Amino acid sequence: MNESPVLDMLERYVRRSGARWHMPGHKGIQPARGTFLDWAYDITEVGEMLEHPNPIERSQQFMAKSYGVDRTWYSVQGATLPVMAGILAAFPPHSTLWVDRILHRSVLSALVLGRYQVRWLYPAMLSDDIILPLTEISPNFSGAQGLVLTHPTYDGLAKDLRDVIGRAHQGGLAVLVDEAHGSHWLGDSFPTSAVAAQADLVAHGTHKTEASLTQTGLLHLQGGRVSADDIDRWWRLLATSSPSYLLLASLDRLQWQRRQPQYGRQWRALADRVRGLWNTIENQGAVVLQSWAERHGFEADPARLTIFGRGAELRSKLASVGEVEKVTPSTCTLILAPGQDLSIIEKALSGIDFREAKIALTMTQYPRLNTAMPIHRAWNQAGQWVPLREAQGCVVKDALTPYPPGVPMAVPGEILSREMIEWLTQWMAAAAVPVHGLKYQEGNAMVWVVDQ
Ligand SMILES: Cc1ncc(COP(=O)(O)O)c(C=O)c1O
Repeated sequence: MNESPVLDMLERYVRRSGARWHMPGHKGIQPARGTFLDWAYDITEVGEMLEHPNPIERSQQFMAKSYGVDRTWYSVQGATLPVMAGILAAFPPHSTLWVDRILHRSVLSALVLGRYQVRWLYPAMLSDDIILPLTEISPNFSGAQGLVLTHPTYDGLAKDLRDVIGRAHQGGLAVLVDEAHGSHWLGDSFPTSAVAAQADLVAHGTHKTEASLTQTGLLHLQGGRVSADDIDRWWRLLATSSPSYLLLASLDRLQWQRRQPQYGRQWRALADRVRGLWNTIENQGAVVLQSWAERHGFEADPARLTIFGRGAELRSKLASVGEVEKVTPSTCTLILAPGQDLSIIEKALSGIDFREAKIALTMTQYPRLNTAMPIHRAWNQAGQWVPLREAQGCVVKDALTPYPPGVPMAVPGEILSREMIEWLTQWMAAAAVPVHGLKYQEGNAMVWVVDQ
């Protein structure tokens, strides 16, 4: 087809690609009961949808039951809508929140809209560009109304949240956990889910790891601290009024799949096999982030494989067997799912000499910036674009976010330091992934800063 750039790109991708070591979790495998993918199934509010409870409400009840929560909402706006509606419903505007610094930009959107005051919880980093889960969350939470955590990291690293959530509850705080990458966690082979840790609200991005279509997600509610009516109200404010039935049907299919006995078996089998793969390639000299993490007191998702080494080089070595999820200057990450032929990647990795890379892991501090003004004030203030290399001392107006992983390194209201400018410049050169919030003019990276 001529001049249909997206269709053309998709057709080229499908013709060329080997396997998919990236999102979405369905990996392009046609599902059982997949007839709903026909356009004839894309309808609107007609017939049975006008009844109460309608089929979507009934399906949401099945999903809620499969997670053991009080209520579940289906999102056709990814995990973004669950995160935003959850935060805005749980915490009154202008209140003070403790927020995990490895926030996704959907958390940032809620912080802007809710005009919240923020106290950051900073994680450590490994080899300058791998974010580790929060370890010490020592505050007694006084003076704040809520806690927002991101769990796991993009690379599937986690810490059991039971203690911290228990302490927050004792201090009177509700807790929202952005668990976008952990909807498949069930049982001992996987990290402890935020649902099991009794978080009040948990946002899931099912499409990231499971067999549902891109843009599907879930919000779960449990306990009595947050009102379901408030969630409904914010959901109506932020969500499309024309949800796609293809997306909704893929969530319905997922709730059905979750209730089949083979669901848990397949994920456990994947976990065992991938843990075996971590070991095998470590014996070939590779350093695998997830297995390093398990040895150092963290939990790790066995559906991820992050190998240290020059990320872009590893990606090109694996290109003949498909595309990977993410590279950073020092790593390459793959996402694995049940139903994939793992022997393809096992064979490709067995041919790589990892000893060449000579990895020395160092723990570093998460880069911290001073704050000049609250996030929402910087967002709303007049601004101008200046070259990044000349922006030291300027106050950022929009977040600067390497994508993936989509974690803002500078948020509105923070003052750019020389170190941060160097970090971003090196990142762009070595990882060759975009930094959202920058634009290019005549080859120069430009940053939007507050007029001072
Ligand atoms: C931690 C985290 N939260 C939320 C989101 C938003 O998810 P979605 O893209 O499904 O809206 C992402 C997306 O990458 C994410 O990584």
